[in-house]
Amino acid sequence: MITSVKQISLLKPDDWHLHVRDGKILKGVLSHTADVFCRAIIMPNLDPPITTLNQAKEYKKRIIQSIPDGVSFTPLMTAYLTDDMSPDLLEIGFKERVFHGAKLYPVNVTTNSAYGVTDLSKIDNIFETMERIGMPLLIHGEVSDSNIDVFDREAVFIERHLQPLLKKFSSLKVVLEHITTIDAIDFVENSESDIAATITPHHLHINRNAMFNGGLRSDFYCLPTAKREIHRIALRQAATSGKPCFFLGTDSAPHTRRFKENSCGCAGIFNAPFALESYLKVFEEEQALDRFEAFASINGANFYGLPLNDERITLVKRDVSVPEIIDVGLAGDPNDFVKPFHSGEILGWSLESV
Ligand code: DOR
Ligand code: ZN
Repeated sequence: MITSVKQISLLKPDDWHLHVRDGKILKGVLSHTADVFCRAIIMPNLDPPITTLNQAKEYKKRIIQSIPDGVSFTPLMTAYLTDDMSPDLLEIGFKERVFHGAKLYPVNVTTNSAYGVTDLSKIDNIFETMERIGMPLLIHGEVSDSNIDVFDREAVFIERHLQPLLKKFSSLKVVLEHITTIDAIDFVENSESDIAATITPHHLHINRNAMFNGGLRSDFYCLPTAKREIHRIALRQAATSGKPCFFLGTDSAPHTRRFKENSCGCAGIFNAPFALESYLKVFEEEQALDRFEAFASINGANFYGLPLNDERITLVKRDVSVPEIIDVGLAGDPNDFVKPFHSGEILGWSLESV
């Protein structure tokens, strides 16, 4: 609900797609999300990936231990699907609320996806079980086929794999993650299936030119990659449309400088530190501030069948400077710092109270 154009108050939001990593970096990364969001769907693409109940429980414990003092935050764990994942394990995990969804990475499609699914038809038993128990399937919707142009991989995935999958499993609950194209928007909006999509802040701000602006800029390289400007404009319309099938998922994916400034730079944009401010800039520019609460705090919870948060937050129209670089608690070597999205920019909204 908007109280004035200078201030916006909303139910505390959730992040429905987040990478917090593990080990030494976890604490320094997590605080940026836990300080603002109530819950987050945690991606399981660690190395090795989260494929068992025990791994998920242990990872959840490490996350909870890393939450800043006095902050209330709930990590919602997910399972990483492999060719030989057991449907029974998924069913137990979902019923015991250890897993809130299962993530499908087509093999070799992105960071730590080497254990991903090699052929969707090999895991029909998984889809059958998930459809029966109503467990959300979270999809990295790109083909990993090197013969397909990198900018076409999302559209081709939808046509070759997602459409047939939903034809076969028409009641499967699906989140198409971090959508980047008009093709994905159209598919989600017009599907008769139980499908929704998350949209990242970066795909609302940048198009593919950002990666090639005066040189090769790996800071803007993520997967799926940003696409042409027409897609970015359509994504802004979808995100600000108020439609329940679109909701917030940052895909914040930190990589330290040494892995970004590399001849083979990693995919991923660390947007967690100013995610809300970043989204709000878009909603303000699109004159849709009144729809921000639905996108950030309501649609996702409803889709996952979880209660809405009851705390509220307020953001005020006040400039905030985004630091060039963020220390995530590693050794102190600048190569171990992480560059945030909007690095060095000034954003027009700031958090008033949490
Ligand atoms: O840009 C990305 N980074 N896309 C993904 O799918 C994975 C993520 C990561 O884990 O770094
Ligand atoms: Zn991701």
